[in-house]
Amino acid sequence: MREYDFLVVGTGISGLSFALKAAEHGTVAVLTKRKSENSNTAWAQGGICCVADPKDSFESHIKDTLEAGAGLCNNEVVRTIVESAPKAIDQMMACGINFDRQDDGKFALGKEGGHTQRRILYSKDTTGKEISNKLLQAAQECSNITILEDHFVIDLITTEKLGIEGENSIVGLYALDESTGQILTFRSNTVILCTGGCGRVYLYTTNPNVATGDGLAMAYRAGATVANMEFIQFHPTCLYHHDLNNFLISEAIRGEGGILIGKDGNEFMERHDPRGSLAPRDIVARAIDHEIKRTGEPCVFVDITHKSKEYLSERFPNIYKTCLSVGIDPANDPIPVVPAAHYQCGGVQTDIDGRTSLSGLYAVGEVACTGLHGANRLASNSLLEGAVVAARALDNAVKNKSHKKKISEQTIPEWTSGDAEDVDELVVIYHNWDEIRRLMWDYVSIVRTNKRLKRATTRIQNLRHEVQEFYWNFKICSDLLELRNLVETASLIVNCAQLRDESRGLHYTLDFPETQNSSPAQDTVIKLQKE
Ligand code: SIN
Repeated sequence: MREYDFLVVGTGISGLSFALKAAEHGTVAVLTKRKSENSNTAWAQGGICCVADPKDSFESHIKDTLEAGAGLCNNEVVRTIVESAPKAIDQMMACGINFDRQDDGKFALGKEGGHTQRRILYSKDTTGKEISNKLLQAAQECSNITILEDHFVIDLITTEKLGIEGENSIVGLYALDESTGQILTFRSNTVILCTGGCGRVYLYTTNPNVATGDGLAMAYRAGATVANMEFIQFHPTCLYHHDLNNFLISEAIRGEGGILIGKDGNEFMERHDPRGSLAPRDIVARAIDHEIKRTGEPCVFVDITHKSKEYLSERFPNIYKTCLSVGIDPANDPIPVVPAAHYQCGGVQTDIDGRTSLSGLYAVGEVACTGLHGANRLASNSLLEGAVVAARALDNAVKNKSHKKKISEQTIPEWTSGDAEDVDELVVIYHNWDEIRRLMWDYVSIVRTNKRLKRATTRIQNLRHEVQEFYWNFKICSDLLELRNLVETASLIVNCAQLRDESRGLHYTLDFPETQNSSPAQDTVIKLQKE
């Protein structure tokens, strides 16, 4: 049994920012199911919001965030995070993270959909990689931090699961060490979930393979409250190409003048919103979905051909190079794009300090629902949220000394595999994996109906039974664990969607096309019912 003061799950901006601060107060283990650099953060292209131009203001950033969030943001959370941005950026730079600057030394500022001002700090079009590399390097150099790669967290261990009376609290977790196949027990009174989102629950996504809703599913199974999972953000512009199907064409391209056009070469967004190609993502994604269905074409295009090769290869080197590698020259050819699942706006419900409903369990970043994003996330607000809330979660844990509490004496049972056999037919796992992603795409994506949600529920129930059977009868492997978490996540998305009898932000249903004007708007909140 291994014991640490802090257990962090995930190596994105939230997990590493937390770990670096926590290391000043105790021992930290950072567990990640693959390699440390496999995170959603590392894939972020756009950047991180921070008011840095004298023409801009916190009030303006707050207003844009609230407007995108369609009445469901928590105002206090929005204000705190927006106003904390300059400090968070200073701390990131102290870790060696570089953001691009203009010739006069001031930050170069990008723009994306829903922003009325330029306020996005970036590092070319690989901002996430710059952040991830520098934080990882700092964590690797820190003697109090142990990074455990290929450690897949299976489930959280709580006092309730151990049959201990009183407030349900975290006491540790079980993790599969993939290098040995052993299941290890980790003890700690402070666990921080920073596992990112769940894009892989959909057939088409901009997310890396690791985004399978793991933290969300395990927190839910442990009894934590989950909120607003119906709000899945579809990024309007994922590259449409048969050799490369999850490559993001950053919204920053539209921020620099890229225009959405149809196959006929005509701009179409003006017909849908006066902000045109830079309207918030929910509006743009729905408009593209509408155009694709109307014209029968498989995709639309982003046209940035008015910019030179020199400009594009300097400002967007990664996008430019990747497009060229599949025969598209963005300086000459409009880039074919389709919407794809991109960001989970709901998640494990937390306060502004990352505290969940379970004592000792924190959730930070995409896995969490703090109230910042409401019904639709404003572009590039999420890296900021990760950095700000991670720092606050650490302060909270230290203040409450949860990591210092003596871990209860009673023994946490080691994991037993019983009579479980090696998985004999992996085909079942892969089939179910494909089925869940396809059905979520067909029934629970950009435009929903009651009928489609009902169909999805029936299918998910069947899949859940099969996965459970597999889980109990066979030895655990990472594919099975991911499938189990994907099914749980799909079920939470559908359940939340069924609870919302209106269209709002990213949740659009033909059965309730209007937004209810109840004030304040209500979150959809779900908690595991005890049997
Ligand atoms: C993008 O670069 O378009 C993505 C940025 C974000 O999702 O915040």
